[in-house]
Amino acid sequence: MRTVTGSQLATLIGDRSEAGGPAYARVAAAIRRLVLDGRLPLETRLPGERELAAALGVSRTTVTAAYDELRGGGYAVSRQGSGTRTALPPSRTSRPGGSRVGGSGTGPAWTPWAADGSDLLDLAHAAPEAPAEVRRAYDAALEQLPLHLPGSGYHLFGLPDLRAAVADRLTARGLPTLPGQVLVTSGAQHAFTLVLQLVTGPGDRVLVEQPTYPNALDAIGRHGATAVPVALAGDGWDLGAVAAAVRQTAPRLAYLMPDFHNPTGLLATEAERRELGAVLTRSRTLTVVDETLVELALDGPVPPPLATFLPDDLTVTVGSASKTLWGGLRIGWARAGTALIRRLAAVRASVDMGSPVVEQLAVAELLRGLDAALPARHAELRIRRDALVAALAQRLPSWRARVPAGGLVLWCELGAPVSSRLVVAAERHGIRLAAGPRFGVDGTFERRLRLPFTYPADVLGSAVGALEQAFGAVTAEGGAAAEPVHAVA
Ligand SMILES: Cc1ncc(COP(=O)(O)O)c(C=O)c1O
Repeated sequence: MRTVTGSQLATLIGDRSEAGGPAYARVAAAIRRLVLDGRLPLETRLPGERELAAALGVSRTTVTAAYDELRGGGYAVSRQGSGTRTALPPSRTSRPGGSRVGGSGTGPAWTPWAADGSDLLDLAHAAPEAPAEVRRAYDAALEQLPLHLPGSGYHLFGLPDLRAAVADRLTARGLPTLPGQVLVTSGAQHAFTLVLQLVTGPGDRVLVEQPTYPNALDAIGRHGATAVPVALAGDGWDLGAVAAAVRQTAPRLAYLMPDFHNPTGLLATEAERRELGAVLTRSRTLTVVDETLVELALDGPVPPPLATFLPDDLTVTVGSASKTLWGGLRIGWARAGTALIRRLAAVRASVDMGSPVVEQLAVAELLRGLDAALPARHAELRIRRDALVAALAQRLPSWRARVPAGGLVLWCELGAPVSSRLVVAAERHGIRLAAGPRFGVDGTFERRLRLPFTYPADVLGSAVGALEQAFGAVTAEGGAAAEPVHAVA
């Protein structure tokens, strides 16, 4: 069973001084948010009351009352002999849109509820369902499988056919790439962690955009490195701020998402790419370019890959089949100079030794047919994006969001610092959300909420109805600003 010590939990809970209400309620609310955000995994054994009280500098009675409140709300369970563990309550309300996604009954028979098995509608993740091509690609992969069974099945760098398909795709997008420059990974996140493992150690700094992708922040923190945030300006990259951060902090690594940045949806212009490339090349900063969302351009072409403005020996471009095709494939890649790819593969040998063969065969097939499949994917995502924008305009007109030219999410400005409270309230209305502060380095973004447009339009419409109610409940509470939630990194 996972455990969390008193001091670890106290660090995660962070500063509660600005929040209102009795001390026990503030401790309970902070732990509840950690559970909802996934930062305290389910089934984690919480520290003993005395230990947590000492770590937080509060009385034991406060922690006893906080644990009682968590148990009462279903966020913790206690069993004799095994202490108190984190849990999630069964949803007390019906799902938005009826008992099943699609409400209308005409949608696919799927139940894309939260990954923890609860029956909440998962708006915390931004990952669409698989298109029909995925099923067909698996069938084709199984037909090819007998050719591979006589071999060992271990392909440290990836199946040659898939490496070639990835290289061809990158070359077609304007980044000339040989198969030897590609390492197939189990997703883009895996690729990023391999880079962290290769080059970062405790105390190293990693430049990130602010806001940024939360799992990247978590990975940076877990490697003992420190994220150096550079704020994105309203509509793009603040090149002066990037140059200053590089000069002042000499980061070991930069992690950037120029293509439908998650969560803002921003797309770097060609001029911004050229300038970013110049700053990072001059400083010889190893740069990870996360292109996970690049194939989801909904309103027009994407400028050349950022890697075309950077040297191959200082750039790792990571990509993925997860958003273009399906997250369940668990296939991504890293692209760099061949020497760097070999060093990453050496790290990989100590981690998982290769990705599953059937999935690699399926993705090779899918990439070869991608040009034919993408228009339908884009058309559906356009409908969903526009439906979400329209529903928000109608039901939550005080919220503001720039309509992104691609990707999967809206980065909403709520007009008040209530994001974390909204996450808790939305759960009572059947919705799982990720609070704005998850996307920041220092607990900012309480005024922000990332909303994915990854569901059919009618589901999104129902979800916005539920959000309207949750937002109404939160703003009716009024009072103090939301408690700060501190990022993990
Ligand atoms: C920007 C970004 N990078 C990486 C990932 C993780 O992708 P994968 O499923 O390929 O690990 C995601 C998924 O949400 C993402 O949005």
